[in-house]
This record gives sequence, structure tokens and C-alpha cells, in this order.
Amino acid sequence: MDPLSADARVETDSSWFHVDGLAAVFAAVCADAVVRVRGDKHYEKTDVDANRSISYRVIRFIPPFVERASLLRIPGVGARMVRNVAGDMAELDPEDFYLLSGVEQGMRFSEWVRRDKIPDYADLTREEVDYRIDRCLDRELIERKTIQYEGYQLTFEGYDALALRTFSERETIDGVGSPLGFGKEGDVYEAQSFKPLALKYHREGYTNFREVNREREYTADRDHVSWLYTARKAAEREFEAMEALYPDVSVPRPVDHNRHAIVMDKFEGVELARAKLEPEQAIGVLDLVLRELVTAYDLGWIHADMSEHNVAVAESGITIFDWPQAVPVDHENAREFLERDVENLLRYFGRKYPHEVPRDADIEGIAAAIVDDSFTTIRAFGVE
Ligand SMILES: Nc1ncnc2c1ncn2[C@@H]1O[C@H](COP(=O)(O)OP(=O)(O)OP(=O)(O)O)[C@@H](O)[C@H]1O
Ligand SMILES: [Mg+2]
Repeated sequence: MDPLSADARVETDSSWFHVDGLAAVFAAVCADAVVRVRGDKHYEKTDVDANRSISYRVIRFIPPFVERASLLRIPGVGARMVRNVAGDMAELDPEDFYLLSGVEQGMRFSEWVRRDKIPDYADLTREEVDYRIDRCLDRELIERKTIQYEGYQLTFEGYDALALRTFSERETIDGVGSPLGFGKEGDVYEAQSFKPLALKYHREGYTNFREVNREREYTADRDHVSWLYTARKAAEREFEAMEALYPDVSVPRPVDHNRHAIVMDKFEGVELARAKLEPEQAIGVLDLVLRELVTAYDLGWIHADMSEHNVAVAESGITIFDWPQAVPVDHENAREFLERDVENLLRYFGRKYPHEVPRDADIEGIAAAIVDDSFTTIRAFGVE
């Protein structure tokens, strides 16, 4: 069934469209569609050729109370909910992990790893590889594609399993619990240790990058940059920034990092976007967030994706999280990123608390005060 024929309001002026509420769930399930939900945050438009073959799968279950869903069209296969592999771990043998890390190694050189190269990469006999490939295919830890040759690729589940095994070998975590949040570019789960932790798997590059790849018609393998690399780089950057900032800036304590995954302390509170502040608290909270940005700048970093979705508010204070796109203060566009961060915050507060925070605050002046470390309160910028 074509999701467009579902009884729902659909915008078709771009390569993706929205439908509302339950209708979206229904349309998506019928169409086996890709569905992503993100409050009022929309996905970027992409120039996907409408004639391309499109396949859909449900990647997020949408509870009926969710007001709006976005249906995102993804060409080809690839975008889908990444299953929580924690439950598979006990069933996997050490040889299954050799196979997975063999495929991982091969993916440094080509997107699809030739079957006949896997025994060397995995350090397994040909017969063992045959057996392990079947087991890993069954569990969707790898996928197969026959192009000019028979090739294999890790799925995100396979990559997750490798990271999870490393964390468990290092005794970073004892187990994985329920989901804490699914963002645009990360899946976050509760993790058990002697204290509650959060495990974040980065997903950058899995969908968007594939589209970019397709558009550029990458053919030569030397040009190949895999989603593994993109996601791993994002996790490395996030961990690096958090290590630099903790504990001076209120970020979750970074605990461990492997491949595309990071482990950090679980924070208290709710996303600012969902927090119900009393109007008279609004300025105070905005000041707290901006002062964290001052300290981060002082330590050499700009968040560069600041929004009401990346700040948690609790009785005990605020936490600023989601740092993979952080840039050093000597980045050539540093000032632009900083001003955008300030602008995003002020726009949000101005919209939600219009009597407390004016919409025309001096963004550049505030950014300048962050840079020269003179910022103390938003009240110094004409805010009553
Ligand atoms: N340390 C943590 N403790 C508790 N919950 C967390 C933690 N880190 C993330 N979360 C939850 O997971 C969600 C997604 O996390 P995060 O914003 O880091 O991922 P993202 O996919 O990069 O987000 P975005 O969509 O903003 O790019 C958060 O909104 C939050 O609810
Ligand atoms: Mg986020």
C-alpha cells in the first residue's frame, strides 16, 4: 500500500512528507514505512529522486499519543529501527565475534567485503566462516549483497554487538536496560553497572550518508567512506569533548568509549523542551545554560547543536548533552556556531516564555560576552 493513499494530511512538496498522529502510524505500518518522530523537530529535506525505488520499514514504534510523525522516504534499503542486540549476546560464540570483526576489518577497504577474503580477515577456516556467516545472517548482524561478487557488510546490530562485547570484556557495563531516548543520530539505552549509566550508539551516516554517497555516485572503493567510520568519528568526537569538559561543565560524566558507542552517567531530569518551568524560572535556567556555554568556551569548545532537546533540567540543576558535533574554538566558523547556539536557545525561550524573554535579544552581543568571558546574566542584554 502506498502511504500517500492513507487518509492523512500529506505534504508532497519535497522528497519527504508528514502525516499526523495515528494516521501516520497506520500508513507507516501498512506501507512497511520508515517513520521517525521527533517532537516538533523536522528532518532535513533531501533531494531524493522520486522515481528511485523506495522501500520502507518501520523504524520507530509510534505510540498513539504522539501528535506528529514524519515519514521519511529513504531510497533503497538501509533505514530501519536498529534492534537492541543486548539480548543476543549470550547466544553468540567467540567465533561469531571473529567473523564480525573480520567483516569490520574488510569494511575499511570496501563497502561490501568479498566472501573469499573473510577467512583471512577473521582468522577462521573457510568452513568455519560458512557456518558463522549463516548464524550472523540469521541474527541480522551482517547482510549480504551480490553485486559483481558476493559481499558482506556489518549491520548496525553487528557493529553494536562488537562494541557491547568490548564494554562487557572491560567490565564497563554489566547489562543493557530499557531505552532512554532515540534521537536523530543516536539510540540511547540505560546500562547497568554499580550506578545507572547510559549507553549511546551513534547512528550518523547510516541513512543520510548513504544518500549522499548515492548522489555522488561513488564507485571507486578508495572514495568509500563507510557509515561505520562516520558513526565512529562522531562517537570519538563526542567522547573527546565530554572528557575535556567534565566536570567543569555540567555534562554527563564520560565513562568509556568504543567504536561508535559511548558510555556515560545517566543524567537526572527531563529535556528542556518537555520541562514545565514557571515563567519566573525561565531567565534563571537560560542563564544557567548560557553560563555553561561560557565555561565550555573557556575550555576550548563550542557545542554547535544547542537546542531545547540537548539540555536536561532537574531539581539538582541542568545537564548539557549530545556533543558529537562540538567544534574547537579555533574552528574557522566558530563564531557562527556559537551565535547559532545562542540564537537557538533565545528563540526557544522567547517563544515559550514570551513575557520573560524578548524575541529580539542581542545575539551577537551575548556571543561576544561568552567569548570574552564577561557574560553573567541575560539581564545585562536588555532582558527584564
Ligand atoms: N546520559 C543520558 N542519560 C539519560 N538520558 C539520556 C542520556 N543521553 C541521552 N539521553 C536521552 O536520549 C535522547 C537522545 O540523546 P542525544 O540527544 O544524545 O542523541 P542524538 O540522537 O544525537 O540527538 P539529536 O536528535 O538531538 O541529534 C536524549 O534526548 C535523552 O532523552
Ligand atoms: Mg539530541
